[in-house]
Amino acid sequence: MSQDAAGHGPTPPTTTDAPSEPAGPNGDLAPAADLDPTVEHPGAPTLVILGASGDLTSRLLLPGLGTLMAQEPDRRIILVGADRTEWADTDWRDRVHEAMCRGGARPEVAGGLAADSRYQRLDVTDPEAWPAFVRSLPADSVLYFALPPAVTMTACELLTRDDLPQGVRLGLEKPFGSDLESAREFNRLLAGLVHEKQIFRVDHFLGKDTVLNILGVRFANRMFEPVWTTGDIERVDIVFDETLALEGRAGYYDKAGALIDMIQSHLLLVMAILAMEEPNRIDHIELRDLMMHVLRATHCHPEIGSHRARYSAGQVGGKDIPSYVDEPGVDPARETDTLAEVTLEIRSRRWAGVPFRLRSGKGLGDARRLAIIYFRPVAHMPEGFTGKVHQNVLLFDLGEGRLGLRIATNGEGDKLSLEETVFEAELGDSPVRPYGEILAGILDGNPLLSVRGDVAEECWRIVAPVVAAWRVGEVPMDEYAAGTMGPLTWGRV
Ligand code: BG6
Repeated sequence: MSQDAAGHGPTPPTTTDAPSEPAGPNGDLAPAADLDPTVEHPGAPTLVILGASGDLTSRLLLPGLGTLMAQEPDRRIILVGADRTEWADTDWRDRVHEAMCRGGARPEVAGGLAADSRYQRLDVTDPEAWPAFVRSLPADSVLYFALPPAVTMTACELLTRDDLPQGVRLGLEKPFGSDLESAREFNRLLAGLVHEKQIFRVDHFLGKDTVLNILGVRFANRMFEPVWTTGDIERVDIVFDETLALEGRAGYYDKAGALIDMIQSHLLLVMAILAMEEPNRIDHIELRDLMMHVLRATHCHPEIGSHRARYSAGQVGGKDIPSYVDEPGVDPARETDTLAEVTLEIRSRRWAGVPFRLRSGKGLGDARRLAIIYFRPVAHMPEGFTGKVHQNVLLFDLGEGRLGLRIATNGEGDKLSLEETVFEAELGDSPVRPYGEILAGILDGNPLLSVRGDVAEECWRIVAPVVAAWRVGEVPMDEYAAGTMGPLTWGRV
């Protein structure tokens, strides 16, 4: 049985509450010497993936690493997979090899990495086995927790500062805690183990080049940088509509919902990048300080507030989707949102009066991953033009990596009749997938693409009033049929 991360893929079958599988014949742990591959490979960091047999590892982490190894074939890593599943080294190596190839790594690179890797049967909630395993690791190690947050927290509670190798880096999957208080508690726990610079809270959206493209467009263009204020921008929408429905993830998703799964983490970070002040330089100190700065000024819009909805039965792309409440593992009494929308205000001179609408949901008719900037009308429109005046819009397609700019132009025929013209461009596409970028950052000890502890807490602080209002039923639970674009009453995005 695997210990899989919460954020992706099917429901993890194990939790801290679940009984552990019986210990292996020799008490779970291989001798420490078996685990010290730096003896043969000096200079190569050891990357331990906890939750090695889970969905996140096979679907995202290993293929992401494969894309990294395709670009950097000389990068040296010792890969150790660890989980409760009874696997032999060969089971793990086969998966590593296959995933590296899938990510595009050359066969000899995939083969070399797989051959040097090993598998360790391990229950991270076992107070005997887990600290001993950690103590056996070389100084230059990364512990990547591809595990449900509750399991990760229990595992960390079982460690002491002395157990951890000196240079260890901890990679922690989202969600980071389950509310502001638990995030604070988790941060306190981690601070007792390692320095903040050794903690890498993972949000794979920060590894998406489509998200990082926002920085270049915003700050390197004279035509955009000066107009990035309330004087010129009327409103901003950040939309992440998915056609995917529950996909067997009830165990995680039913306790999270769209607000927590997507808005609390991913979309708030995208908003922070869109709205931050200009950095002096692009580095982890400036970027994360400025993200924190704008998030601290962010509050749920008192007048516009929030919406929530849940899908009923419908069809997406010709496939029948059952009503969310009829999905296996769903508890209808939890009133989980599968579509959420929050309108935020940023209390600053730059953004006073500009609503930021963040929306995300599942089982929708169309997959849209957009950040849309709507500009205000010109200060004076000369008389004499005819036709509709189209609002200037700048659109980042975070899925396809496209940029669109809509402007008004003189149309054909009647030269004074205005039409809309849309310029579209493909933005640079990195061959390294988000998880490859994230892993490279952790392996290199560069926190640029990881979430700082206070930023993680601040994101919970922002959604807390929404969660509280929903809990007491202040905001009705709307319904939309799967395959539609959500409740019509919400207004079009
Ligand atoms: C994950 C969420 O973090 O991000 C999923 O848990 C969501 O529900 C996914 O589908 C979206 O990310 P990506 O990279 O697949 O666009």
